[in-house]
Amino acid sequence: MIKIVTIIGARPQIIKAAALSRAIKNKFSASITEIIVHTGQHYDENMSQVFFDELGIPAPNYNLNVGSGSHGKQTATMISGIEEILLQEKPQAIVLYGDTNSTLAGAIAASKIHIPVVHIEAGLRSFNKTMPEEINRIMCDHVSTLLFSPTQTGFQNLTNEGFKAKAPKPYNANNPKIYHSGDVMYDNSIYFSEVAEQKTTVLSKNSLEKGQFILATIHRNNNTDEPVRLNALFTALYKISEQHQLDVLLPLHPRTAKLLEFNLDHELHNKIKASKHFKIIPPVSFLEMIALEKNCRIVMTDSGGVQKEAFYFEKPCVILRPETEWVELVECGTAIITDANEQKIIEAFATLTSKTDMKFPQLYGDGKAAEFICGEMLEHLN
Ligand code: UD1
Ligand code: UDP
Repeated sequence: MIKIVTIIGARPQIIKAAALSRAIKNKFSASITEIIVHTGQHYDENMSQVFFDELGIPAPNYNLNVGSGSHGKQTATMISGIEEILLQEKPQAIVLYGDTNSTLAGAIAASKIHIPVVHIEAGLRSFNKTMPEEINRIMCDHVSTLLFSPTQTGFQNLTNEGFKAKAPKPYNANNPKIYHSGDVMYDNSIYFSEVAEQKTTVLSKNSLEKGQFILATIHRNNNTDEPVRLNALFTALYKISEQHQLDVLLPLHPRTAKLLEFNLDHELHNKIKASKHFKIIPPVSFLEMIALEKNCRIVMTDSGGVQKEAFYFEKPCVILRPETEWVELVECGTAIITDANEQKIIEAFATLTSKTDMKFPQLYGDGKAAEFICGEMLEHLN
C-alpha cells in the first residue's frame, strides 16, 4: 500500500487528475491511497468546482485557498501550505501535473523534505524561458524521481538534459527514472467523448451548427497582457468571422475577460459586441468543451491542452503562440503556429480549412496512460 499526495490548482490539472483518480478507483483502490490537495490557484465555480462535479474527481482532502497573486507570493503561500500537509501526511510521493505555479510549489515543498516527486507531463519544452510555465516545468523535472512524458519528444528532451534513458533501480531524486507514458489528457478525452454530447446542450444553447463554427480560447499571459498582441488576435478572429460569415465561439478565461476592457481597442470591442457571429461566453465545462471540439470547423487557441484536444477529435488548429511544446501537431500538418500575427492567422485559417487530406495518427498513447503510471508508482515507490 502506498500513499500519494496529489497537488492540483489550475483548471487543466483538475482535469488531468481525473484520469489518475479514476484508475486508482477502478484498479488500484487496494494498493494506492490518494490524498488530494487543491491549492486554490483557480477558484471560480466554472474554473474549478464544475470539473469535480462532472468528472467524478473525489473532493479535495485539503484546500489551501491561495487565490490569485503575483508569482512569488502565490507560489510561496502554496509552498508553505503544501509543506505542512506533507509533514503531516508523510506520503510515499507527491504527484504533480504540468507546469503551473501549483506544480512548482509542490516540487519545491516536497523535494526539500525528501519526498519523491512524480511529475506527470514531464519533458515538455517550449525553449522559451520568458514563459512562466517553462521555468516551472524545468524546475519540477529536475527534482523529480519518476518522470512521465506524454510524448517521445518530451522523453528526448529529458535525455538531452542529462536524464538517463535507462537508469538502474532503485530510483530517487539523484537517480530518476524517465518514461514515455502517453498522455493522461488523451485518457480523459477518450473516456468522456461519448457522453459529452448526450450530457450537454452547449451547441444549441449558443445556436451553433455542427461544423460551422470556430472554437477559440485565449489566456496566455503574453497574449492577454500585451495590447498589441491582444488586438491582433481579436482583429484576426473578427475579420475571419465577418469574411466567412462564420460563428466564433470564445469561452473566455477570467484573466482575458478582465483584461479586455483595458487592453482591447474600444472600437474593435464594440464591433465584436455588436456582431451576431462573435460569441464570447464564460468558461465552459470539460464535457461542453469536448462537445465543442468534436463539432467545430477549426480550433484557434493559445492553450496547451486545447491544441491537443483538437487533434484528438481530428480538427485542424491554429496555434496562437510563437512556439509549441506539442511539436508533433505541427509536424503532422494539422496545426500551424501563427503567433499573434493577424496576417499569419488569416492565412493559416485559409490553409487549414482548405486541406482535405489530414491525418491524425495516434501519437498520445492508448488511453491507458494513467493505469501505466499507477503501476509504475506502485512498483517503484513502495
Ligand atoms: C495558469 C497557469 C497556466 C495555465 C492556466 C490554465 C501559471 C503560472 N499559469 O494561468 O500555465 O495554462 O492557469 O488555465 O500557473 N482568475 C480568476 N478566477 C479564477 C482563476 C483566475 O478570476 O478562478 C483570474 C485572476 O484575475 C488571476 C488571473 O485570472 O489573477 C490569472 O490566474 P493565474 O492562476 O495566476 O494564471 P492563469 O493565467 O490562470
Ligand atoms: N477547458 C474547459 N473549459 C474551457 C476551456 C478549456 O474545460 O472553457 C479545458 C480544455 O478542454 C482542456 C483544459 O481545459 O482540457 C485546458 O486548460 P487551459 O486552456 O486553461 O490551460 P493549458 O492547457 O493551456 O495549460
